Amino acid sequence: MGQGVGFGKVILFNEHFVVYGIPAVVSAVGAKTTALVERSSGSGYELKDERPETPGYKAEKLQQQKESMNIMLKFMNIDTQHNHYVITLGGDLIAASGVGASAASCAAIARAFSQELNLDLSDERINEVAYEGEKGYHGTPSGIDNTAATYGGLIWYRREGSAQVMERMRLRKPVEVVMGNTGKVTDTKVVVAGVKERKEREPERYQRLFQDADQLVRDARKQLQDFNLEKVGAYMNENHRLLQEIGVSSPDLDALVKLARDSGALGAKLTGTGRGGYMVALTPGRELQDRVANEIARHGSQVLRTMIGT
Ligand code: MEV
Repeated sequence: MGQGVGFGKVILFNEHFVVYGIPAVVSAVGAKTTALVERSSGSGYELKDERPETPGYKAEKLQQQKESMNIMLKFMNIDTQHNHYVITLGGDLIAASGVGASAASCAAIARAFSQELNLDLSDERINEVAYEGEKGYHGTPSGIDNTAATYGGLIWYRREGSAQVMERMRLRKPVEVVMGNTGKVTDTKVVVAGVKERKEREPERYQRLFQDADQLVRDARKQLQDFNLEKVGAYMNENHRLLQEIGVSSPDLDALVKLARDSGALGAKLTGTGRGGYMVALTPGRELQDRVANEIARHGSQVLRTMIGT
């Protein structure tokens, strides 16, 4: 039996902009997806998805999951003619939009096959497999989600042509964040395509917004390194505004962001694909984290309390 894990993630700065080569910052969250692979005689495979989920997520993603699985099996040269595989997904990462659920499952599956078949794949190779797997979910992934899912930690990420460039970042100490789930499942392919279409329709406006996003993440990186959390929070707020401008927020997300800020968060923004899924709020200290998390839970949203920079 082979086993593997993939980390859930939270994008702190510049989802969507990252698709176009603008740098982004991503952190692993505490929760993980696990995969088990069991081999027997026969042919084909069966995928048992036992992850906790936002209602409707698994059904909505089933077709994309199958596509992703087939791409990865082919990419790893796995023989499903003379072997039958049962792949079981589990772990404590909720399968939902915005937390890198698809990428975490791809990295976990790649690792589990590597162990079961003694392929001894390096992290770099696992990341490549997970990137291919991500293509099943959204045609043109930037590579940020699979990188976070494979390596964990806090990462400065950018795409340079076809290269995926990552640098590890360190925080003086880990910081509490709260993530609030709108409960809406979104399709990354559709939301990414929407940005592309609007960008082509309004090139000058989008060029300005993209330049602002580029400058913002560089400034935010300095503040993260200096551990100036008030400023980091302000940059998260500004990043949310830019994401609103490119049309990837939603009334539900804006309401969660406002609630988090009104409850004392230093900053809050949508995270991941947007249009649904999660928002993330910067809430250093257990007391502030509890306060913001409780307010969001009172509002009826599912809440994830986690740390960035661990
Ligand atoms: C999704 O988690 C992040 C996006 O930027 C898409 C991508 O980077 O591939 C929206």
